[in-house]
Amino acid sequence: MRRAPLSLRLRLVLQLLGIAAVLAIMLYFTVRTVAEQAAEATQDGVLGAATLAIAESLQGGDSGVGVDLPYEAFSILGSISADRVFYRIDADGATLTGYDDLPLPEEAGVAVVPVFYTRPFRDTEVRIAAVARMLLVAREPVPVLVMVAQTRQGQEAIAQRVAQRAAAIGLGSFALAAALSLLTAGSVLRPINRLADAVGRRGPQDLRSVDRPTPAELRPLVTALNGFIARLRGALNRTETFIAEAAHHIRTPLATVRARAEIALRQSKSEEMRATLRAVIRAVEESSRSAGQLLDHATVVARTDRLADEKVDLAKLVAAQADAFRPTAELRDLTIHHSGTDRPVIVQGDRALIEAALRNLIDNAIKYSPPETSVDLDLTTGAEALIEVADRGRGLSGQAQSKLTQRFIRGENAGDIIGSGLGLTIVAEVAVAHGGHFDLTEREGGGACARLYLPLA
Ligand SMILES: Nc1ncnc2c1ncn2[C@@H]1O[C@H](COP(=O)(O)OP(=O)(O)OP(=O)(O)O)[C@@H](O)[C@H]1O
Ligand SMILES: [Mg+2]
Repeated sequence: MRRAPLSLRLRLVLQLLGIAAVLAIMLYFTVRTVAEQAAEATQDGVLGAATLAIAESLQGGDSGVGVDLPYEAFSILGSISADRVFYRIDADGATLTGYDDLPLPEEAGVAVVPVFYTRPFRDTEVRIAAVARMLLVAREPVPVLVMVAQTRQGQEAIAQRVAQRAAAIGLGSFALAAALSLLTAGSVLRPINRLADAVGRRGPQDLRSVDRPTPAELRPLVTALNGFIARLRGALNRTETFIAEAAHHIRTPLATVRARAEIALRQSKSEEMRATLRAVIRAVEESSRSAGQLLDHATVVARTDRLADEKVDLAKLVAAQADAFRPTAELRDLTIHHSGTDRPVIVQGDRALIEAALRNLIDNAIKYSPPETSVDLDLTTGAEALIEVADRGRGLSGQAQSKLTQRFIRGENAGDIIGSGLGLTIVAEVAVAHGGHFDLTEREGGGACARLYLPLA
């Protein structure tokens, strides 16, 4: 099995966080280096100035080099930190004054400009500035080297503080970048989520194409999706047409077969032959009915996603259906009553579908009732409109409604009555498509009672 790829949001957030971490680390080191270099340059400047001041104060003479240490030079050094200061003044290779173990500069020809270097000295490490000068002693030029050293505890303390600040800045900018990356991931993925939402919210029957504005990157996906939906819709339409045509093309020849069989039945003398012909007629009736119900069912399925949205007066509809079924009922010595139809009850929906549902309910009531009983249609309104179709027939014999509304399922009580098992499926589907519901129960005092609830307009 292939593993599902990482979520886009997680991927985006991880990559942005990675970039943010690298940038934060670079920022930390940059701030640190720049600050340390600046601190060192400042201290070097002061050290160099002090060294130069001492070098300036040296005087040549007839007897030797005169040293008059300018104490303000040392006080400048002392003023910026509490570091220890060492010095050494060499003339012609011999130490005149100061610490004679203070390390000499590497290059011999030191210039008038101070040279800086860092060396271990005694128990610590010092930064040394060295300046060379030529003095005239007894008219001879004598090279003089002045070195001033200073420990660097002060600078280290500054470096430490700088490092802490730099770390804080790095962490802060990382946190900010992390927050921004979450926001970015959210905003980049929003159009995808919206699209997924819009498609996900659709009912299973909704086959309209997706027409919400999407970013350019998503357009190929939406185009492909719409192409797919269009093909699916086309396939459904073709199926619907096919079923309608098939039903028509089956029913017409079946009617002919039936008529011929009936004529043959009337003319036949042999009882065996008559029995066969009766079986043929019944099979023909069953096939014809199945074709009709299949057509109705296909119509319901096909129309649920393009439900006509019209105002339907249930009072008129119930009365009209009662009238339409009266001849069929009278043939079986049944009476049809309807009540609650004297004032309009308006629902919003598809007239053809509601009519198909009602037709199936009345058809069942008539089919499963013995002669000399009545079928009662009652229309009432409460929170919803309710059409009740009640009969005094054989009842449901305790069968569950959930089973009876399944496709092609007929009840055990159906016996020899012709049917295809699609009627209640149609009723339930129409109810759901209109946001209503349907139930079928035993009727008190015998028979069955079907209730179709539809939301009022
Ligand atoms: N009014 C009723 N009285 C008793 N049983 C009923 C009634 N209505 C439905 N039934 C039971 O529910 C089953 C399913 O009904 P449904 O209308 O779906 O199928 P059908 O009537 O058998 O076939 P058709 O598709 O031709 O209507 C029936 O076979 C029958 O057993
Ligand atoms: Mg039926």
